[in-house]
This record gives sequence, structure tokens and C-alpha cells, in this order.
Amino acid sequence: MNIALFDAKEYDISSFEKYSKERDINIKYFDVKLTKDTVSLAKGFDGVCVFVNDSLDEEVMNKLYEYGIKAIFLRCAGFNNVDLHAAFKKLHIYRVPSYSPHAVAEHAFALLQTSNRRIHKAYNRVRDYNFSLVNLTGMDLYGKTVGVVGTGKIGRCFIDIAKGYGMNVISYDKFPSEIDGVKNVDLNILFKESDIISLHCPLTNENMHMINSESISKMKKGVIIINTSRGALIDSKALLDGIKSRHIGAACLDVYEEESDIFYTDKSNHILNDNNLLQLIAMPNVLITSHQAFLTNEALSNIADTTTQNIIDFYNGKISENELCYHCANIENCKKKRNMKCF
Ligand code: NAI
Repeated sequence: MNIALFDAKEYDISSFEKYSKERDINIKYFDVKLTKDTVSLAKGFDGVCVFVNDSLDEEVMNKLYEYGIKAIFLRCAGFNNVDLHAAFKKLHIYRVPSYSPHAVAEHAFALLQTSNRRIHKAYNRVRDYNFSLVNLTGMDLYGKTVGVVGTGKIGRCFIDIAKGYGMNVISYDKFPSEIDGVKNVDLNILFKESDIISLHCPLTNENMHMINSESISKMKKGVIIINTSRGALIDSKALLDGIKSRHIGAACLDVYEEESDIFYTDKSNHILNDNNLLQLIAMPNVLITSHQAFLTNEALSNIADTTTQNIIDFYNGKISENELCYHCANIENCKKKRNMKCF
């Protein structure tokens, strides 16, 4: 298999080199993202490997199909950037459903405690020989209520850490399941009762902007919002308004709804055109990282391992749980459910 890997960073290349050599897969690395303007680079390859901010809309899919590409290998779990209907019967799509839920949950807590205990401020002060503690007061997490939205793999790791802190955990999931010591509640109750809210659900058409001005108005004054899932779960303008009105105590964001042209690149010599992001960055109680929650050695290694295995499985015509459901609407005769190839 000859694979074109888009949006390649140094850390991707080193982890993929190891597994691709072992499994005899040819990978060509492109540092650009896959978009309608760069899709022609995929000509002559058998498959493409992409990440969270590559564009996989209908136009790009049709071009890939025209060039004879047979499969797309996502090296991530989320697939909100993929037009699955456009892919059906044309391009097989694989993902890495889990690579390190711990990495993401631990990063969510790192953001929370950095923001809560003002570690980022303290670090800069001490480097400047300023040993004052004024305005660095945080709160004990012990005994506080944290509301977890989405109790899948990452949500559960987050819950385990929260329990370790002695926090009271409540949760909302569209498909709830019993978790020891955690009360499943309605989303509105979660908004009302939580001191801290952490998002761990996928982004879908249905929950886009689930954090908006109306939901923020239901939250406790001083609430801390953590988002390590997908940016568009939060209406960033409403978040900014909530910060400005002092209703939101702090926001810890690893993702941002307009991140695709900004995150993962060095923009330090550029004037950013995104006013919401500029203002959020300027706020003393907003902490932003550039979609890095996944970035641990363990996760990178697991991503490269599973992605190259997905490539091999596809090449050998093997049925794989990691191939996505195309929502073809053939509910009664769903081939995926019958452990068959969708097409
Ligand atoms: P998962 O599939 O194990 O769990 C997701 C949970 O969300 C499931 O329990 C599901 O029932 C629930 N859910 C689905 N729709 C919902 C809705 N509308 N409202 C509430 N709950 C809903 O997924 P996992 O591995 O825990 O990942 C969660 C999300 O984390 C991913 O979808 C992805 O967007 C994000 N992620 C972010 C990373 C980062 O580096 N920042 C890295 C990996 C994932």
C-alpha cells in the first residue's frame, strides 16, 4: 500500500516510521492539510491518512475517488470532519477508536488545575523574581461537584481522576450507563448543579453549540468549563460573553470551533483575524492549548500501531470494527451489524 499522510508533524513521522517499516507500508508525508486545494497530491496513492482538521467533505471525497483512492485512514477517534454519506460505496473509512483515553482525561485535569491554582501565572511571576501570591487564590477541588458530559472511554478516565480528588461526580450521557458512585442526571440539572463542567462527548449535528447563552444562564456563577472534545460543542461568542459578564469563572479549552486553520501551526508572526479567539486568549481566566490533549508518547505509538494495522486489514480484505458506519439508512439489513463489509 502506498499511503499519502497529510498534516504530518515531526512527532507523527517518528511514530509512523517504526510501524510502517515493520509492516511494509510505504508512506509519503505531506505537511499540508488535506483540502480541496491540496487533494491533487493524493494522485497515485492507494489511500490517504488524515487527522482532525483535514477536510473530508463531499468535494474532497469525490476527487479522492476520481484519483482511484480506495480508503481513508483517520489517525484519530473523532470523525465530525468526515462526510460519511459522500464516502458510502466509494471510499472505505477507518479510525482509531481509542489510543489513550488517559492522555486526554489527564490533560483536562492539567488544564483545570493550572487554571484553578493559577500555575501559569505563578510560573511567569517566579521567573521574574516576583514571589507575591496576590491574585493567585484558587479553590479546593475536594467536595466540589463536577458534571461530566459523555461517559465513554475518556469521560470514565476523567471520572476516576475526579473521584481521586474527592469530588462529587454527576454525569449526562445520551446513552447512559451505570457508573459506581456517579449520578446520571438530566443535562439541565448538570448545568445547574456543577461547579465544574467537562465535555467528553463527540460533536454531532444535534449537540453543536450545546454550551450556548441559554445553557450558560442555567449554570452556577463562577462555573469552570473544560472542553477537550470538539470546539463546536461551545458557542465561543456566548462563552466570551459569559466570561465578560463574570458568570463563567474560567474556561479551559483544548479545542476551538474555528481551530482548523489556526491550531498546529506557528502563527506567532501573523495577525490573527479571529476576534473571538483573540479576546479569549486575552482573558486572564481562559486557558487554551492547541488540541494537544492526545499528545503523549503512549498515544502516538498506539495511533501509529492501530492506523497501520487498519491499513493492513483493509489491504487483506479483513472485516474491521474500526471501519466507520456510513449511516446508509439500510437499518433492517445493516451489513456492519451482521459483521459483513458495508460495500
Ligand atoms: P467514546 O465514544 O468512548 O465516548 C463518547 C460518549 O459520549 C459515549 O458514552 C456516548 O454515549 C456519549 N454521547 C454521544 N452523543 C452524546 C450527546 N449528544 N450528549 C452526551 N453524550 C453523548 O469516545 P471517547 O474516546 O471518550 O472520546 C470522546 C471525544 O473526545 C471524541 O469524540 C473526540 O471528540 C474527543 N477527543 C479529543 C482529543 C483531544 O486531543 N483533545 C483526543 C481524542 C478524543
